Amino acid sequence: MNTELPSELLTELRKAKRVAVLTGAGISAESKIPTFRDAMTGLWASFSPEDLATPEAFARNPRMVWDWYAFRREMCAKALPNPGHLALAELETRFEEFTLTTQNVDGLHQRAGSRRVLELHGSITRVKCADTGRLLEGEIPACDNPPPRHPQTGGLLRPDVVWFGEALPERALLESARAALSCDVYFTIGTSALVYPAAALPIEALKAGATVVEINPTETPFSNTASYSLRGKAGEVLPALLAALQG
Ligand code: OAD
Repeated sequence: MNTELPSELLTELRKAKRVAVLTGAGISAESKIPTFRDAMTGLWASFSPEDLATPEAFARNPRMVWDWYAFRREMCAKALPNPGHLALAELETRFEEFTLTTQNVDGLHQRAGSRRVLELHGSITRVKCADTGRLLEGEIPACDNPPPRHPQTGGLLRPDVVWFGEALPERALLESARAALSCDVYFTIGTSALVYPAAALPIEALKAGATVVEINPTETPFSNTASYSLRGKAGEVLPALLAALQG
């Protein structure tokens, strides 16, 4: 890793009681999960996310939307958590309070061992009834003409992700905002800092007096505002940070 870890940051982290984190697609890049737009390749190259990730698209062509998510679900299931996910799971155990908010739907934080994860955009690992929102428990039923139907409600199944035009889960958003406003140190990792309301969280944390640390190999619109902007891959910077704290 080329990035020097500032000693003042390490001192602040050693004293910190409350830490909050926001992650985006970049934390999963080293697990080879393509970002939303990068996933529009091969069979799906002629579509835009708006063609596939809206309630209107599902109403128009549920089969196509289901197949696209089934393809991505399989990709996520095959991927493995990387050293960045694992370091965050380990960091969770070091602070009195640790809140991890993710914009990712891949479930990799939980698979890495993170216990308290707030999913702002839902999870591709779950499916729910498109009519009632009731989650499916257990395996997705086999079906000749997907999408399958929810065994209890009879409605078509859809992924439990937030589509364009849909509201974010209220509890996850509220708890993420509360953590941002009350933490000592806030990390924003692998996110382009462009998509609201998630992008507002580090700004709120900063306004409330937290030290805000960005981890990203490239500059973002937030880089100049952050207290520390660490240029590097999450899978390298986070393990180095953890090692420095343990040392
Ligand atoms: P983006 O794809 O917009 O940004 C990914 C960020 O990760 C970029 O700033 C990269 O520089 C950075 N990055 C790449 N590799 C990295 C690495 N190894 N370590 C750390 N950072 C790395 O993804 P998000 O900001 O997550 O919304 O996008 C936010 C939302 O926009 C997504 O959740 C999705 C999309 O519309 C919904 O699906 C509702």
